[in-house]
Amino acid sequence: MSAAERAREAVPKGTATGSTAFVLGATGFVGREVVRQLCVRGAKVIAHVRPDSKERPRWQQTFGDLGAAVDSTPWNVVQLGERFAQAEVKQVYILIGTTRAKAKADAVAGNIYEAVDYGLTKIAADAAKSSGAAPRLIYLSSVGADPKASSQYLAWRGKAEGAVIATGLDYVIARPSFITGARDESRPGEKIGSAVGDSLLAVAGLLGGRKLRAKYRSTSPDVLAAALIRHGEEPGHPKLVVDGAELR
Ligand SMILES: NC(=O)c1ccc[n+]([C@@H]2O[C@H](COP(=O)([O-])OP(=O)(O)OC[C@H]3O[C@@H](n4cnc5c(N)ncnc54)[C@H](OP(=O)(O)O)[C@@H]3O)[C@@H](O)[C@H]2O)c1
Repeated sequence: MSAAERAREAVPKGTATGSTAFVLGATGFVGREVVRQLCVRGAKVIAHVRPDSKERPRWQQTFGDLGAAVDSTPWNVVQLGERFAQAEVKQVYILIGTTRAKAKADAVAGNIYEAVDYGLTKIAADAAKSSGAAPRLIYLSSVGADPKASSQYLAWRGKAEGAVIATGLDYVIARPSFITGARDESRPGEKIGSAVGDSLLAVAGLLGGRKLRAKYRSTSPDVLAAALIRHGEEPGHPKLVVDGAELR
C-alpha cells in the first residue's frame, strides 16, 4: 500500500475545497501533518521546503507520494508573492519557528526569534498581501504570545501575530500549548513540560478549573492539524484567534 493510500485510510474524508493551500513550514512536526491531512481531503497542496534544505529529496518523495507539489521559493516578499499569485492560493499556512539548537545549526545571527519566528512570518504575511490573491493566513502561534511578554519567544510570537493582522487579510491565529508526540529529534523540554503541565492541569480540572485545563493541556500534531484546516477552510471571512478547546 502506498503512503497516499495509507494516509487516506487513516483519516476520514472531509469536504475538500478545491482551492490551493500553500504550507510554509511543511517539513515541521505540525506542517507535515497539515500537508498529509490536506492531501487526504483532496485539496491542492503546495508544500514549501526551504531552498537551503539538505533534505529536499526526502521531502520531494514524501510529499510527492501524498499528492502535494513541492516548492522552494526563496524567503523573499516579491518572489513568494509572485508564487502565491501564480498558484492563486486561498490559504497560506505559516507553521514556522526555530529552537536554540536549530538556530545554532543554521547559524542564525542575532535574536533567533526575531530573525526566524517573526522575520519569516512577516515575509510570508507581506507576500500574501502583495500577491493580490487575498489568501486566508493560518498562523501557528503559541499560548501566551504577547508583544509585551518578558519571554523573547512569546514577545516575538506576539509581534508575528501583529504582522499577520496588519495585512488586513482574513486570518486564523492558533495559540496551542505544548505539542507532543514522537519527533525525529529529541526535545526533552517539550516532553517534560507537557507531562508536568498535563498532570497539574488534571488536578486543576478535578478542582473545577476546566477552562484552565482546556487552554493549557498539551495537544498532538494530528489533532492540531485537523483544527487548523477546519478553521482555515471555514466558509465566510473570519478573523479568528483560537486556543484551547477550539483547537481540538
Ligand atoms: N512544539 C510545540 O510544543 C509548540 C507549542 C506551541 C507553539 N509552537 C509553535 O509552532 C511552531 C511549529 O511547531 P513545530 O513543532 O511543527 O516546529 P518544528 O517541527 O520545529 O518545525 C519548524 C518549521 O520551521 C522551519 N524552519 C525553522 N527554522 C528555519 C529557518 N531558519 N529558515 C526556514 N525555515 C525554518 C523548519 O524547516 P526545516 O525542517 O527545514 O528545519 C520546519 O518546517 C513552532 O516553531 C512553535 O513556535 C510549538
